[in-house]
Amino acid sequence: ALPGQTLPETVTMSQIRSFLWTHQGVSFLRDVTKETLDVLPSFQIPDDDVVVASYPKTGTNWLAEIVVKILRAAGKVAESSDTMMRGGALEIKLPTARRPGYINLAKLPSHRLVVKVLVPMRNPKDTAVSGFHFFKKLMPMMGAKDDLRWEDFVQDYSAGIVPYGDFCDHVSGWWQMRDDPHFLLLKYEDMKKDLLSAVKTIVTFLEVDLDESTVKGIAEASTFNNMKPVLDNSTFPIRRHIARKGIVGDWKNYFSTEDSKAFDAWCEKKLGGTGLTFHCTK
Ligand code: A3P
Repeated sequence: ALPGQTLPETVTMSQIRSFLWTHQGVSFLRDVTKETLDVLPSFQIPDDDVVVASYPKTGTNWLAEIVVKILRAAGKVAESSDTMMRGGALEIKLPTARRPGYINLAKLPSHRLVVKVLVPMRNPKDTAVSGFHFFKKLMPMMGAKDDLRWEDFVQDYSAGIVPYGDFCDHVSGWWQMRDDPHFLLLKYEDMKKDLLSAVKTIVTFLEVDLDESTVKGIAEASTFNNMKPVLDNSTFPIRRHIARKGIVGDWKNYFSTEDSKAFDAWCEKKLGGTGLTFHCTK
């Protein structure tokens, strides 16, 4: 503040917008710097790396945890390694992957034939609700007050004025890789419906050999109820806010009929004709 000026008592969404900056049309929080974004597209991914490429709140930690459990059981990563320490977020490694991500990987011809990329997807309405609660926890850590209002957030969300930009742009980019054998796209809703099948699919995709009881054990350990205590006690403070409800359809408790219609129109405009659907209309 200038001399004589006082900082605002409360921070509304429009003030929270001031925490965002844009790079190639995509919004980022200020903890991602331009220097990082400039350097990282040329970052070399080791040949045997496994990457989880997600839009925030689509189930990143869930999928990453399953992947690490599988690789651990197969003896490919150290027993004690923490998921977060294993990799960190893809957006940190390859931030411009947000739009359109596959192009960045395509720029790495020596790696793209061996690197395995897993992409969690989730219906945009639950993703927005999850993001709302998460950013409410995150913003105070960045110096703002915790008074983010849903009415503002939901509008900014479908305008892409949220960290990591427009959800639809993100998912439609990765959707184009769905038939490439080095990519596995997984919907949160399908994982909720049949976690064991999802874990089996991931095991096959990662080309590891695990017996049936090990696979069942991984699925059992990866349910929301079993993962929540682990996340709640994470040494990383922000991870303690990850395991909130872990359900499909919480959006119905937040979206007005108008919000819902606006989201449907936004998704239709961006995803219509691509074949990618999320089945979350009222
Ligand atoms: P909710 O906020 O709707 O509960 P991300 O890891 O991309 O930040 O996503 C977080 C979302 O995934 C949160 O959604 C969280 O509860 C959910 N999640 C985390 N672990 C889960 C699990 N084992 N089963 C189901 N959902 C899980």
